Amino acid sequence: MCGIVGYIGNGNVYDILIKGLHRLEYRGYDSAGLALEGEDGKLKVYKSKGKVSNLEEYCKDKSLDAKVGIAHTRWATHGEPSDCNAHPHYSEDGKLALVHNGTIENYKVLKDALMQHGCTFHSETDTEVLVQLIEYIKVKNNCSLVDAVREALNQVVGAYAIAVIEKEHPDTIVAARQSSPLVIGIGEDETFLASDATPFVEYTKEAVYLNDGEIAVIKQGEPLKILKLDNSESKIDVKTLELSISQLEKGGFPHFMLKEIFEQPSTLKTCIRGRVVDDGRRIHINGINDHKDTFLNAKRIVIVACGTSWHAALLGKYLIQDMCKIPVEVEYASEFRYSNPVLDNRDVVIAISQSGETADTLAAAKIARKMGAFVYGISNSVGSSIPRETDSGTYLHVGPEIGVASTKAFTGQVMVLTLLALGVAQLRGTMESDQIAEIGKEILRIPDYVEKVLKLNEKIERLSLIYTYARNFLYLGRGYSYPVALEGALKLKEISYIHAEGYPAAEMKHGPIALIDAEMPSVIIAPNDHLYEKIVSNVQQVKARGGNIIAIVTEGDTVIRNIADHVLEVPPMPECLTPIITSIPLQLLSYYIAINKGKDVDMPRNLAKSVTVE
Ligand code: AGP
Repeated sequence: MCGIVGYIGNGNVYDILIKGLHRLEYRGYDSAGLALEGEDGKLKVYKSKGKVSNLEEYCKDKSLDAKVGIAHTRWATHGEPSDCNAHPHYSEDGKLALVHNGTIENYKVLKDALMQHGCTFHSETDTEVLVQLIEYIKVKNNCSLVDAVREALNQVVGAYAIAVIEKEHPDTIVAARQSSPLVIGIGEDETFLASDATPFVEYTKEAVYLNDGEIAVIKQGEPLKILKLDNSESKIDVKTLELSISQLEKGGFPHFMLKEIFEQPSTLKTCIRGRVVDDGRRIHINGINDHKDTFLNAKRIVIVACGTSWHAALLGKYLIQDMCKIPVEVEYASEFRYSNPVLDNRDVVIAISQSGETADTLAAAKIARKMGAFVYGISNSVGSSIPRETDSGTYLHVGPEIGVASTKAFTGQVMVLTLLALGVAQLRGTMESDQIAEIGKEILRIPDYVEKVLKLNEKIERLSLIYTYARNFLYLGRGYSYPVALEGALKLKEISYIHAEGYPAAEMKHGPIALIDAEMPSVIIAPNDHLYEKIVSNVQQVKARGGNIIAIVTEGDTVIRNIADHVLEVPPMPECLTPIITSIPLQLLSYYIAINKGKDVDMPRNLAKSVTVE
């Protein structure tokens, strides 16, 4: 939700900020803006509704000379997307400019108080309140910018990552964080800041992740200083980034989403590496091995997540219950956090989040930890908030996911959950070692299976043409294929804007069956598993009502082939591994339908990759 970038140094400030905004555009693209300060002593603020490219167009004939700058790409919360509501916002006297990612919950109270002191507001945003408050405190107390920021933040309730610059001191950026990410890149004679490290990875690999309640003072020619809200100084912990620039480019693909779909053989290989050892006979997960007693004594596992990660979580329930015989509950993080959860120190809570920054998942993890549960994070983003707020965890290692629609992160999450379930089963002795070895061997072959499934690409592209103009879709599956149905429906909805519902196939007859006619295609995920005979009946029920069927089946299937209108075949494999494979044709189908409809698949309307607001 919103991306922020800042730069101070001798490089081309405008170019660095714009390139950084493009990298962060996955976080929001309702409007973009920047503030520049140069030797001419002017604070120049340029903003534009829409994507970063609109801002570039707007800036073409503007003065862009600068030594310091801050920039923002917005996902609207308070106030519609417009030039006026775009960031940066500036203070009444025009001396301060500020960018913000997050929400100020008590903005109304603060705004009323500031209006009583004569402040006028020009936008509908909560952010403008913050910059006016800082300026008000600065003038009233005749203090420095950093002191004013600290006092203002002590009055604010909510989430924020901010960066502020001041007309009178164009050599300094003051930045702060509370529940929204912010990372500082330390270069030679130059400093960067951003919502994640992608805007500066080609300039420096040295990064400092700001913690909640910290304020950074970035001054040209001086070492970085980090203060806490009580004005004490924080230790600076410099990390080395493992990110590479090629991971942030499309690599010849027309969209990040397609690139990320096709990357899955290699991302799954990296995800598995070192975790399935002795030719598949043993599972080695550090996050479990370091906490054996916790997993041996766990009486219950609760998994919290949102969106696609929630679908992976649901698969986690099936996997863990099957393999470890531990009861599992799966909760939407946004519901869990307000549901007065009952937890104690024998509960393990697993928080799953690709970005590691989803506000609800982060809050759920914090609540669970406070209640004494052991919290395990599964994330893709190294150094993000969730891994830092949990007791242990596992990274996906699938590389940065830039397309807003999650693809390779989903298969990575399911793979990590499969490994986790096998690892805990190995520890608790709930599976025979030859059962583990049989699955372990097949896991090592997963990248090859994925490679094979990707060969369906052209067939799926042709198939998509038949269904591009359907107005509704039903996705059906049973057992391990039910969460896959939910995920397939979500993929289609979010990038093609076609209404789609995922349903347990047997539940269909309790309502949704009424919708079936020749106009509504059903996508049925029906691999050859222990529920195969059951789903064949469901396929027949759809056909009997005149519905069109696209079925995902196991190679060699003859029964469903004779009923369905189209079949897409996947290789045979153990039932618990099928979701990783059957989800891939669904990703491709959504992609091509959205492309046929001319939609922007990497930046679908109203969405953002990282949801850091409630
Ligand atoms: C996935 O395609 C979606 N864009 C979305 O549902 C996403 O999975 C959700 O916002 C959770 O994100 P997270 O994994 O980063 O926490």
